Amino acid sequence: MHEAQNLRDWYLENQRPLPWRLNRDPYGIWISEMMLQQTTVAAVVPFYERFMRKFPTVQSLQKSPLSNVLEMWAGLGYYSRARNIHKSAQVLGASGFPKSHLELMELPGFGPYTARAVSSLAFGEKVGVVDGNVIRVLSRYYGLAGPWWTTAERNLYQQKIDAWVQKEDPSLINQAVMDLGATICTPQRPACLLCPLQKNCIARQTQKISDLPVKKPKKDSEVWVWDVDLHLRGKKIGLIENDYLPFLKGQMIFPGKALKQKKKPKKYDVKHGITHHDIYVRVSKIGVTAAKKVKWIEINQLQKINPSSLLRKIIESQG
Ligand code: ADE
Ligand code: SF4
Repeated sequence: MHEAQNLRDWYLENQRPLPWRLNRDPYGIWISEMMLQQTTVAAVVPFYERFMRKFPTVQSLQKSPLSNVLEMWAGLGYYSRARNIHKSAQVLGASGFPKSHLELMELPGFGPYTARAVSSLAFGEKVGVVDGNVIRVLSRYYGLAGPWWTTAERNLYQQKIDAWVQKEDPSLINQAVMDLGATICTPQRPACLLCPLQKNCIARQTQKISDLPVKKPKKDSEVWVWDVDLHLRGKKIGLIENDYLPFLKGQMIFPGKALKQKKKPKKYDVKHGITHHDIYVRVSKIGVTAAKKVKWIEINQLQKINPSSLLRKIIESQG
């Protein structure tokens, strides 16, 4: 097998030109990986460029107040990630980046994925990364039909990608598989004729492409009633960091309260589904101040701060 060589050659010709690939600066790679965990490459690029202009080095991030970092993160959601980035920058700015994923994993916000991505992309540590795209490519190539969402099966994927990165530059191999999953080995109708792995791909040989990766079983759906307090002040609206909804996690939302129910309420203003949550929203308009720490934003900025269509529907329901 020459998977690694084929992947490397393919990547050198076909990689996507992304701003965090211009060099091997661990800081830029880290920031990009944190942003990419929550949204698509296309959405991340402008945020990344803005962030790196404002904080070009880990020291500039280290010295900046947290509030400036959160401001640059607005619109990406998951503010706990921005907080962790700021926390880890205190350590990394002072003592530099450790070069192994095991050491990186001791820092706030570095999980198994991020730690391996940074150590392999920036320092060439021979560790593979496993994300959704990688799982799709490997499950098809090796014909893996086990439950990839379990720890045992994940370990198998980790072993497979680890074997590939032993043979060629891990930065190239990891990113090659990511790009292959994003552009060639797509969920629907993969472009196998353009794929550097086509010769030995089990799914292709056995016509199992559309069965792999196997589908994760769906959770039963839950009914939630969300009582929203719309705090309005002129053209401004009050938002808080989500500390009470099981959906829209890590995002700025309206204050209020939410309850899981057996069945849907008789009266509601908005109905909306997010994954396995069936959400029924009841809206109350409230003037002036709120009980909690409310952040006031211009209503016309809402879609930028939180692009969720649920929030838009709630505003629209009020005319
Ligand atoms: N997704 C996560 N990390 C990535 C990277 N370095 N390149 C492309 N897509 C990615
Ligand atoms: Fe995916 Fe097709 Fe390549 Fe197999 S040959 S890895 S199914 S794109």
